[in-house]
Amino acid sequence: CGIVGYIGHREAYPIVLKGLQRLEYRGYDSAGIALYDGKDLNLCKTKGKVADLKELLEKEMSTSGKLGIGHTRWATHGVPNDVNSHPHYSNSGNLVIIHNGIIENYDSLKKELIKRGFTFQSDTDTEVLINLIEDVMSNEKIKLGKAVQLALNQVIGAYAIAVFDKTKPNEIVVAKLGSPLAIGIGEGEFFIASDASPFIEFTDNAIYLEDHEMAIIRLDKDIKIRKIQDDSLVNPYIQKLQLNLEQIEKGGYDHFMLKEIYEQPLAIKDTYRGRLLVEEGIIKMAGIEDNMKRFLNADRIIIVACGTSWHAGLVAEYIFEDLARIPVEVEYASEFRYRNPVITEKDVVISISQSGETADTLAAIKLAKSKGAFVFGVCNVVGSSIARETDAGAYTHAGPEIGVASTKAFTTQITVLTLIALRLARAKGTMSSSDYRRQLIELELIPEKVKQALKADKHIQAIAELYKDSRNMLYLGRGYNFPVALEGALKLKEISYIHAEGYPAAEMKHGPIALIDENMPVIIIATKKGHYEKVVSNIQEIKARKGKIIGIVTEGDVSVRELADHVIEVPETLENLSPLLTTIPLQLLSYHIAVLLGKNVDQPRNLAKSVTVE
Ligand code: G6P
Repeated sequence: CGIVGYIGHREAYPIVLKGLQRLEYRGYDSAGIALYDGKDLNLCKTKGKVADLKELLEKEMSTSGKLGIGHTRWATHGVPNDVNSHPHYSNSGNLVIIHNGIIENYDSLKKELIKRGFTFQSDTDTEVLINLIEDVMSNEKIKLGKAVQLALNQVIGAYAIAVFDKTKPNEIVVAKLGSPLAIGIGEGEFFIASDASPFIEFTDNAIYLEDHEMAIIRLDKDIKIRKIQDDSLVNPYIQKLQLNLEQIEKGGYDHFMLKEIYEQPLAIKDTYRGRLLVEEGIIKMAGIEDNMKRFLNADRIIIVACGTSWHAGLVAEYIFEDLARIPVEVEYASEFRYRNPVITEKDVVISISQSGETADTLAAIKLAKSKGAFVFGVCNVVGSSIARETDAGAYTHAGPEIGVASTKAFTTQITVLTLIALRLARAKGTMSSSDYRRQLIELELIPEKVKQALKADKHIQAIAELYKDSRNMLYLGRGYNFPVALEGALKLKEISYIHAEGYPAAEMKHGPIALIDENMPVIIIATKKGHYEKVVSNIQEIKARKGKIIGIVTEGDVSVRELADHVIEVPETLENLSPLLTTIPLQLLSYHIAVLLGKNVDQPRNLAKSVTVE
């Protein structure tokens, strides 16, 4: 979910509305806004997108008020409908709240409140929280800030909340545990949001609350930050924001996803800039140098991640084992954290996350740390929870990724992981210096080669036209390109809702081959290096069963071209770098199919860009 709020001298509505649109990547099954002008509370919420909310709100009510809060939701408790949407208000109607997160003990709290005469309109945990605050406030005869604090001390769960009291229209109280919360500080005005994007055109001064912190924001006073548990005061740390507006707008592309696909040459270059020094023949990464001993003493590396980041982890498994000869295990963070895994102080855990906020990944990190493992983060969002929780790390410098289907995050993650593997390979002496040099030279050429690969866009669009009505698709690859097949299938599922499966090409004969007939398109990665002959045999097997074959091949390929219905070429490179190129046509294929089917590419149904609940 995403939350946004404003209090100050301007009209809150346009700021909150635009903020919600920027945060829609965090969830978009319902949305709501509450505006307060000191007299009337205008509250509007609806199932659907922020655009639906805008239409309804502007038709039905006044948009005036210099205090406003808004919410865009990814449903956890209660189906997405108007009633369950936020903001929620308390029984008296005085307290209004927006909440991102989950209150786990809401059921027992709710029963208590019902006994005390409270009634509920929705199924949400949030309505329980706001009534709990009201209950505490009236029982103890205390101010809002104190009541929020006492109530939160009874709560188990995760939250980023903003609350206001109609009787105190110059104050908003916010608190954070688990879900992110940024406060923008302007001249006589304050902004609140799940990330800084809603307020970057107004101020570049921001405070990121830490877990267990709350802030009392009053127009006539300095901002006060306190620890929720023991009420101690915290000195506000004001950061200068680096974001700019252009980075979070579409810049002429039809969709963020397409923009982000096309940004990959630059994103990869930004990711290796300053780290890959080809002339000197070295790789420089502070996070690795400072912790070299931990890496070299590690018995193994465990990678934890979710979704696309997990796929990048799978590619990294091949890279680390192949180049640096370190055993690697790749784990879904959600499984790892609940499996009672065997972790020792000699383990190095690498967590991969674009957003740096994924709840399962964060929990897996905390678990690994508690067992004494050294945890290294690969994140894109600077200052994110995972970036802060890990012992050390390296950022991917992909820039903001807004499209829900991850693209440039994936290729930049592979870039960082390749740099790390190469650095460790050099330190361990598992590679000859000539092989190592060749790796550096080839890696530096990747952005240009990605540009080449992008030139197939029109050709891919034509292929998309032919296969857009398929009900299933199969993605195959071997070795380094097996995880790419998984990622290709995931991209298609996410945005076109066509069922797709990724499989190791050789494993096909143990099951999926039964699915192949003339209606089954098979996308198979068959680049020159990496089991080429074996993949060609797999293609023969598909052809014998009349499957439609779309081959991702190396420039100038002949054998696959003869067999396949279509080929899409990518430039030649080293085998371990090939995922950075073979991924590109798969991203474009999914993109075009989804566009042709009229799907919402940037905001596919049921998904969220960052999943801050488990
Ligand atoms: C969500 C997104 C995916 C992403 C995954 C992990 O499911 O929709 O695109 O791969 O979370 O996110 P992270 O930010 O941790 O990489």
